[in-house]
Amino acid sequence: MSQDRTPLFSGLIAHAEKDPIQFHIPGHKKGKGMDKEFREFIGENTLSIDMINIEPLDDLHHPQGIIKEAQDLAAEAFGADYTFFSVQGTSGAIMTMVMSVCQPGDKIIVPRNVHKSVTSAIIFSGATPIFIHPELDGQLGISHGITPEAVNRALQAHPDAKGVLVINPTYFGIAADLKKIVEVAHDFHVPVLVDEAHGVHIHFHEHLPLSAMQAGADLAATSVHKLGGSMTQSSVLNLREGLVSHERVQAVLSMLTTTSTSYVLLASLDTARRQLAIKGKEMLERTIILAQETRLAINEIPGLYCVGKEILGSDATYDYDPTKLIVSVKELAMTGYDVEVWLREHYRIEVELSDLYNILCLVTPGDTSEETESLVQALKELAALQTDRAARQPVKVKVPEIPLLALSPREAFYSETEVVPLDEGIGRISAESLMIYPPGIPIFIPGEIITEDNVAYIRDNLDAGLPVQGPEDETLATIRVIKEHRAFK
Ligand SMILES: Cc1ncc(COP(=O)(O)O)c(C=O)c1O
Repeated sequence: MSQDRTPLFSGLIAHAEKDPIQFHIPGHKKGKGMDKEFREFIGENTLSIDMINIEPLDDLHHPQGIIKEAQDLAAEAFGADYTFFSVQGTSGAIMTMVMSVCQPGDKIIVPRNVHKSVTSAIIFSGATPIFIHPELDGQLGISHGITPEAVNRALQAHPDAKGVLVINPTYFGIAADLKKIVEVAHDFHVPVLVDEAHGVHIHFHEHLPLSAMQAGADLAATSVHKLGGSMTQSSVLNLREGLVSHERVQAVLSMLTTTSTSYVLLASLDTARRQLAIKGKEMLERTIILAQETRLAINEIPGLYCVGKEILGSDATYDYDPTKLIVSVKELAMTGYDVEVWLREHYRIEVELSDLYNILCLVTPGDTSEETESLVQALKELAALQTDRAARQPVKVKVPEIPLLALSPREAFYSETEVVPLDEGIGRISAESLMIYPPGIPIFIPGEIITEDNVAYIRDNLDAGLPVQGPEDETLATIRVIKEHRAFK
């Protein structure tokens, strides 16, 4: 197969060039029936391929033509046996992975710092999560991955688990020893499902961590749109045959997917795959060099620390992605959020995320030294403004405790509930998910016991201006908990 080809994109263009008379949806009919301002803004090229699954254009639900060819090329590029395109992001692909291997009551081993799509998948599937504590980094206030030893212990205790889910690499670009985790899980004949939302590019350069498929994992949900050059919302689900059936994955993905799949998104996956396969290595080479230069420059700035390879060496920090710049700002006695706002207001710079202690900036093939120099310049100016920082107390890193699970998330989700003031919720079972977004990692999921420590952590984040998402009551004055039935006196 030639990775130069883009059967899906080329097929769409060829169809559009025939200038068909369309008596089908979308009703805007190549933009002609659409609001003029939007039509002119978005452009006729895009609108000419905003199509629906008429016969010549294949069908994502039963691919047999140009979509199948495009998926086969992607499978070859990603080293998978099968690749499925997702127009519902990696969230849709993650739900598919979990629901493909778990039935109600089945156990799945997952790190506690999962993305909310994993919690949703657990609720939908009715699976019982067996949580593994991720390694917590007390210096940075973030969690890393899970270790092969922890996976082994979890599997010894639960050899009947139907899957092990691993986040690799993490949002911050830290990778675990995935190959070893796969070996451990496969010794128990348990498939490994990888949340590879932040790692589409790692497959294409040998100086980046091993990709899920390279490590021998069974399934990987991979956000091509995040770091692989396709359009927002487009992802892939890669499958290695053996422990998981591709027919089952196709069926579940189809159940969870709109019947009106966007061909603009699908075409962008086809072309992103071509670019990654043909030019990925060379583009990433430049990106890694640019990111390393930026890292060095940031580390020259007093009060700032940009994480590098010295973070490696613990069991959960086996490898890292140098294109991710985690900048610890706590020595400036500012929160990451304050720095995010300062950069926006003074330099038009938008970071990927901020938390209490850090900002995260991504360097991709879309950057040049002009952008990275602006970032360094801005950080220099900010650090200089904070010269009195030594006199202040540096921000103290706190990492939230992982709550105990009292009910399965699905049981909790469907239980009788009541709303209580947040403080009175301490000791009760949460019926809600609460997370800091980004990265969307839960402080509580439904079924967990609310602790004082976690309520304090929520308040710290709210006070710092960081968004706590998920609760019905956005002010968080109250929280929904499982109703308790007390004995009558
Ligand atoms: C770790 C992790 N997993 C999964 C997802 C979901 O990806 P998507 O936004 O493509 O649905 C995200 C998104 O931020 C994420 O950070």
